[in-house]
Amino acid sequence: MNMMLRRLSRAAAAGLVAAAALTAAAHSAEAADTLGSAAAGQGRYFGTAVAAGHLGEADYTATLDREFGSVTPENEMKWDATEPSRGTFTFTSADRIVDHAQSRGMDVRGHTLVWHSQLPSWVGTLGASDLRTAMKDHISGLMGHYKGEIHSWDVVNEAFQDGGSGARRSSPFQDKLGDGFIEEAFRAARAADPAAKLCYNDYNTDGVNAKSTAVYNMVKDFTSRGVPIDCVGFQSHFNSNSPVPSDYRQNLQRFADLGVDVQITELDIEGSGSAQAADYTKVVQACLAVERCTGMTVWGVTDKYSWRSGGTPLLFDGNYAKKPAYDAVLSALGGSGGPGEPGGPGEGTATCTATYTRTADWNGGYNGEVTVTAGSEPIGSWTATVTLPARQSVSALWNGTAAFNGNVMTVRPSWNGALAAGTSTTFGFTVTKNGSDAAPAVGACTAS
Ligand code: G3I
Repeated sequence: MNMMLRRLSRAAAAGLVAAAALTAAAHSAEAADTLGSAAAGQGRYFGTAVAAGHLGEADYTATLDREFGSVTPENEMKWDATEPSRGTFTFTSADRIVDHAQSRGMDVRGHTLVWHSQLPSWVGTLGASDLRTAMKDHISGLMGHYKGEIHSWDVVNEAFQDGGSGARRSSPFQDKLGDGFIEEAFRAARAADPAAKLCYNDYNTDGVNAKSTAVYNMVKDFTSRGVPIDCVGFQSHFNSNSPVPSDYRQNLQRFADLGVDVQITELDIEGSGSAQAADYTKVVQACLAVERCTGMTVWGVTDKYSWRSGGTPLLFDGNYAKKPAYDAVLSALGGSGGPGEPGGPGEGTATCTATYTRTADWNGGYNGEVTVTAGSEPIGSWTATVTLPARQSVSALWNGTAAFNGNVMTVRPSWNGALAAGTSTTFGFTVTKNGSDAAPAVGACTAS
């Protein structure tokens, strides 16, 4: 089976089980009583790292499914997991996470394409020319498998050293290909999945310091030369040695001012009780204060499975009970009395409309775009349906997540749920005609 067919059959299978879960997800968006729905009310996503091995645990999946709108595979998309020997890709564990997420209407972050760690040993043995080819093949193989299904990819991870020098970290890529490997990776990533946001991701870059400034200068250079980069990820692993920096918001803002999105990608804060809760509040408030901070991801569902489990750094304890930090995050996101609650955005009377345009056309396919416009009230989220003519199938979708029931595609927002009164957003999709050039029908838009 070729890559496109495999991807389509993965998406179709997910669609068969998605409709009921979608209703549940939309319902929770109305209540804004979960992390994902409260964040959606602010126009952001709230996600978590997920390990495929825990998906069989009922409390784990119940908490995941109820609370989060985005998932990041914690290890399953890394190079050692996906291409353990050259040219042989294995997607079983990553597919499990992506399928689970899609069947529940959650988005997926991709982590990570090029990183010095969790790198199979064969990569380090290659000479420069072979390594360059292998890096590009890895990017196109992995991104190609999930084309149209990942909202943001960590293209390059942790390429800068800690400390004051702002120098690049030694790695096979840096040592053999030089500084240019990052640019080459981003260009290859854009070609592999043009709809995905391409991120540079790192740690100890959360405040203004020599390392974050080195990353800043690279992003500035990229944007000035048209090297494709869309966002910067701030891992945000905090503890007493590395506390939430006082200039966190200022640092996020200076990156956003370069014209890229910023995302908090691996948030965890060691501690407990009100002190931990207060630190989480600072992080959420910093993101919400920066318009281009599009979402936050915590690095795990429960303290039990955290990479720093001894530091109890997450929002649910080992028994899946909500911690004070959970309540603080929900409150900072405007849950309970915020957007989606009675009198707030997303409550009962909100409406929306959806209009369709064909934006590109070629022999075998076309691109469609649907514009969703809020009525006279602000909305917290929306759902739109697109009915495809017989024989046509959707091969890619962007700025939304889809569930299929026969030829009816139900689309929910990915990052673009919240709309002020009268404002619009769009989602787009690529259709394979299979001999039919008829136009799809766009049905009701439902606001919540
Ligand atoms: O799956 C094997 C298991 O079969 C084996 O018995 C066991 C023995 O040690 O190891 C298991 O693999 C471990 C894997 O996590 C899954 O639990 C690896 O040893 C362990 O090294 C690996 O740690 C991961 C770490 O990245 C590796 O660098 C953590 O789960 C993961 O949370 C962490 O995530 C990183 C981000 O990718 C990048 N930023 C920093 C962040 C935290 O370190």
